[in-house]
Amino acid sequence: GPEFETILLERTGRVAVLTLNRPKALNALNSQVLLDVSAALDLLENDESVGAVVLTGSERAFAAGADIKEMQSKSYMDMFLVDHFGGWDRVAAFRKPIIAAVAGYALGGGCELAMMCDLLIAADNAKFGQPEIKLGIIPGMGGSQRLTKAVGKAKAMDLILTGRNMDAEEAERAGLVSRIVPAADLLTVALETAQTIASMSLPSVMIAKESVNRAFETTLGEGLRFERRVFHSLFATEDQKEGMAAFVEKRAADFHNR
Ligand code: CAA
Repeated sequence: GPEFETILLERTGRVAVLTLNRPKALNALNSQVLLDVSAALDLLENDESVGAVVLTGSERAFAAGADIKEMQSKSYMDMFLVDHFGGWDRVAAFRKPIIAAVAGYALGGGCELAMMCDLLIAADNAKFGQPEIKLGIIPGMGGSQRLTKAVGKAKAMDLILTGRNMDAEEAERAGLVSRIVPAADLLTVALETAQTIASMSLPSVMIAKESVNRAFETTLGEGLRFERRVFHSLFATEDQKEGMAAFVEKRAADFHNR
């Protein structure tokens, strides 16, 4: 596969695994990581043989935040003119499912990157937090919005105003995390989950993702109307006929992503 400076990209079947790989900086997210992640997602989005993606880091850190050393000396205009961090919207706009497999630190931009993903599977050693306040700033990759939607105002204020971390248990209780697994099983479980998703009909998976994400953007009435339109549209797919025929014939479905 293609080579990147700060990430590894591997394939197993219909699943792509994207591993953040700046171990000396605990996977701090600098501009090169953004370029690499964006280029990888462009490739994966256009590759019909990819049905789901796992995004992970190391056992010690998913990502310890945006790169503080890169930001340290920047001015307001430096940040504004290049829309610093705006490019990370690419991850949230990715149309296929992404599972964040989080071990160790997911802090600041690392937590925000995990929250841009669709499922968040946490190792039991995962630590989540938005410590930006300790640097004299606030979250800048969506944390004040996505964390609040994920865990509610009380817990989001607690984390964002104090900068404290929460462990995997607290994060699961708060609704940030889909599942907690032993650290040693993290990648296996994330891969199995991604493979399950990638075995479904890709159009239905993409539309399901889009439909759930609508819930964060719109009113209940608009969201329900959106769901019904796209639900009806799936009856134009071959895979709907195949999926229902397979059920009636008591056999496994053989989807062709059409
Ligand atoms: N940016 C740049 N470098 C970082 C980094 C970051 N966010 N996080 C860690 N590193 C570097 C450290 O500087 C250190 O490098 P050196 O060996 O060259 O000194 C190396 O990674 C290892 O880190 P530590 O020695 O600090 O490791 P530790 O185990 O003692 O502590 C930690 C781990 C608690 C995660 C600590 O590294 C830490 O607090 N990191 C910063 C966390 C943070 O503030 N994140 C928010 C960043 S701002 C942001 O993300 C803005 C946004 O919303 C987009």
